Amino acid sequence: MRWWDIDPVLALERALFPEDAWSRGMFWSELAHARGPEATRRYLVAEDAEDGEGDGGGRIVGYAGLASAGETADVQTIAVAREHWGTGLGARLLTELLRAATAFECAEVLLECRVDNVRAQKLYERFGFEPIGFRRGYYQPGNVDALVMRLATLPDSASAAGAPSVQGTEIND
Ligand SMILES: CC(C)(COP(=O)(O)OP(=O)(O)OC[C@H]1O[C@@H](n2cnc3c(N)ncnc32)[C@H](O)[C@@H]1OP(=O)(O)O)[C@@H](O)C(=O)NCCC(=O)NCCS
Repeated sequence: MRWWDIDPVLALERALFPEDAWSRGMFWSELAHARGPEATRRYLVAEDAEDGEGDGGGRIVGYAGLASAGETADVQTIAVAREHWGTGLGARLLTELLRAATAFECAEVLLECRVDNVRAQKLYERFGFEPIGFRRGYYQPGNVDALVMRLATLPDSASAAGAPSVQGTEIND
């Protein structure tokens, strides 16, 4: 994800997280830490291949980001356009984030997820994430609890669970 992707990413963000969408400034701030030798973030976008060439010139249909801090990495965000749900794109994005966590030499990956977001939890469980606790009232407004999940041992990225190849969709950093 680069700064010029922020507008289309924000449109998706507002559609998919209507109650607690990130602001433009939050994406800028994350991307400010995503480049160079001191980078602590990895942000990706998935583009559909408008012209069928898979050259990254298509519409953004998903995005994801990871932050590393020492031994621990955090899944900051992951989202897929509704019309692409269930195609395995979420799994592909998560696979890339786990690959990034390995590259950052992190030993564990944490994430927070709304307790009512069963679809996302199933995806994380498939990759071996386990629930380790709750953060009460983490999501505001609405006072919804977060389930905290943890993946202790990073899978071999080449064989990361359930990441089918989706034809015509390309993931770029
Ligand atoms: C969570 C999200 C990223 C998943 O993306 P996706 O592209 O649909 O993910 P995949 O197709 O790789 O996998 C989805 C998995 O969800 C589960 N799932 C599928 N249909 C489901 C349903 N109707 N109800 C609950 N879970 C379902 C399955 O485990 C499925 O894997 P499977 O199809 O192999 O069985 C996407 O739904 C999304 O963007 N949601 C809105 C934003 C969001 O909630 N982000 C996560 C914040 S914690």
